[in-house]
Amino acid sequence: MNKFLILWVLNLLSLSFSFPAALLATPRPCAEADRAALLDFKASVVADTTGILSSWSGDTDCCGGAWEGVGCDPATGRVTALQILQGRGYMKGTLSPSLANLTFLETMVVSGMKFIKGTIPESLSRLARLAQLYLEDNSLQGPIPPSLGSLPNLKALSLGGNRLEGQVPLSLGRLGRSLLQLNLARNLLEGPIPPTFKNLSLLQSLDLSSNSLSGGVPSFVGQLQRLAYLDLSRNHFSGEIPISLSGSSTSNVLMDLSLSHNRLVGGIPAQIGSLKSLATLDLSNNFLTGAIPDSIARLGKLWYLNLSRNALSDPLPNSLAGGLASLLSIDLSYNNLHLGTIPDWIKERELRDVHLANCNIRGTLPTFSNPDSLSSIHLSNNYLTGDISDFISNMTGLEILLLSHNMITGELPEFSNQVPGLRWLDLSSNGIGGHIPSTLSGLSSLQRLDISRNRVNGSIPESIGQMVRLEWLDLSSNYITGKIPESLSRLGRIRHASFRNNRLCGKIPQERPFNVFPAAAYAHNLCLCGQPLPACRKSQIP
Ligand SMILES: *[C@@H]1O[C@H](CO)[C@@H](O)[C@H](O)[C@H]1NC(C)=O
Ligand SMILES: *[C@@H]1O[C@H](CO)[C@@H](O)[C@H](O)[C@H]1NC(C)=O
Ligand SMILES: *[C@@H]1O[C@H](CO)[C@@H](O)[C@H](O)[C@H]1NC(C)=O
Ligand SMILES: *[C@@H]1O[C@H](CO)[C@@H](O)[C@H](O)[C@H]1NC(C)=O
Ligand SMILES: *[C@@H]1O[C@H](CO)[C@@H](O)[C@H](O)[C@H]1NC(C)=O
Repeated sequence: MNKFLILWVLNLLSLSFSFPAALLATPRPCAEADRAALLDFKASVVADTTGILSSWSGDTDCCGGAWEGVGCDPATGRVTALQILQGRGYMKGTLSPSLANLTFLETMVVSGMKFIKGTIPESLSRLARLAQLYLEDNSLQGPIPPSLGSLPNLKALSLGGNRLEGQVPLSLGRLGRSLLQLNLARNLLEGPIPPTFKNLSLLQSLDLSSNSLSGGVPSFVGQLQRLAYLDLSRNHFSGEIPISLSGSSTSNVLMDLSLSHNRLVGGIPAQIGSLKSLATLDLSNNFLTGAIPDSIARLGKLWYLNLSRNALSDPLPNSLAGGLASLLSIDLSYNNLHLGTIPDWIKERELRDVHLANCNIRGTLPTFSNPDSLSSIHLSNNYLTGDISDFISNMTGLEILLLSHNMITGELPEFSNQVPGLRWLDLSSNGIGGHIPSTLSGLSSLQRLDISRNRVNGSIPESIGQMVRLEWLDLSSNYITGKIPESLSRLGRIRHASFRNNRLCGKIPQERPFNVFPAAAYAHNLCLCGQPLPACRKSQIP
């Protein structure tokens, strides 16, 4: 039977039952027990600036529609949904154990309330009809109550973004008959993934990222046949990537896999190419060794590949040239690769992100066949030569350009409005000369500018003061002359600036933060003065 047919039959069934009830009977008022439970929740919230709970007043029907965030079954007058979501304002308090008295509840959402503290009540396990429990992005503390494992109908459990600690309870493995989604990310959880999780055979999405979980990546995760999303990043997982995870099971639906920021060792399994559905693969920041396997080229749906910051070695498989048909982002930075040149296929594809920092690339700056598709380029720490002046021309969508620590020469280009979206430009530690063009201010989105350690001369253009998004400015170790323009004090977001080791002279703008940056930011110039340096003498003010 196909999916649409099933939906159609379900529709018919639900029509025949609920439609007449809703039409003929007037909605039942809220059950007394449910109202009492909700009011008890309200009482445990000591401050509410969202305004939601002020709509819950004692003399109105809690199912009549007036109580914000409360949903009922009109036929029974029982509360089936409680949805408190972040909007404006906050709630401060705890989660009342009386919530467990809402025995008909199917959906409970209390999310984005940074001042809801305390533990998750054990008693929630009494909510036998609960299908969705979302308690995300609050400040809940203590352990995950093992009793949650006995919720018989739970399909989605998210406790992400709290301060939960201790181990992941073994009992959660008992949710195997119903659980589709589990998110415990961004907490303080420790210990291993419980072996009982192999029973979560319906699981489609598992996010345990950003905790302190340890032990191996269990091989059974590869046998969860419906798992489409697996994020175990930012933990302390060790050992090798289990081969089972790379598609030994027949019906593999895994689309997103992230194991980044762990302590994984060994090679990338040669079988990785059988993960036919894989769209994103992030193995960055581990201790992986060996060569990138040939089979990776067979991942026809993969658009994001991040293998950066491992110890992967040569050679890069030739198969990549004809494979990876959907690729948009590639990051191989900071491994033990000696690419020599940027492979032609990378220059010829329509890529969005090309990150090949520290890959021992020599030769001149590359020419990309599709410069307008590029959003970020990271080629720092290589041996690139050539002229910077027209490198960025036609890269109209560029947001990030990092070329530091190469041997690039030429003069800083006129930027005018060629790259309006550029947010981060790092050309530091090269041999780039010329002056800072006043058209630099055309980069109106620029947040970080680093041209330190080059041969830039001339003065700092007044127009830099128009770059109001600028947060980080490093002009140090060049041959820049003249004074620091007063206009820079209009840079309201600036957090870091360095003018060190140039040939600047005159009064430092006497406004925050320029007059409170460390003196080192102005050291080794000709004759800068004014705070944080000593006051100007008459002869120093031009
Ligand atoms: C919730 O139920 C328990 C036990 O059934 C009862 O003792 C308690 O008073 C109830 N809480 C509220 C607020 O009604
Ligand atoms: C896991 O499933 C097996 C068989 O399906 C069962 O015997 C076992 O008790 C289950 N374990 C847990 C923790 O639910
Ligand atoms: C790859 O991952 C690292 C962190 O592990 C991150 O800094 C980098 O931006 C990622 N690369 C891309 C292209 O997203
Ligand atoms: C930029 O595009 C124009 C027109 O397509 C082309 O003539 C020019 O050579 C390109 N410049 C670079 C540096 O690729
Ligand atoms: C500034 O640098 C450019 C090229 O690097 C050079 O041609 C020019 O003479 C320099 N100007 C001064 C005043 O040193």
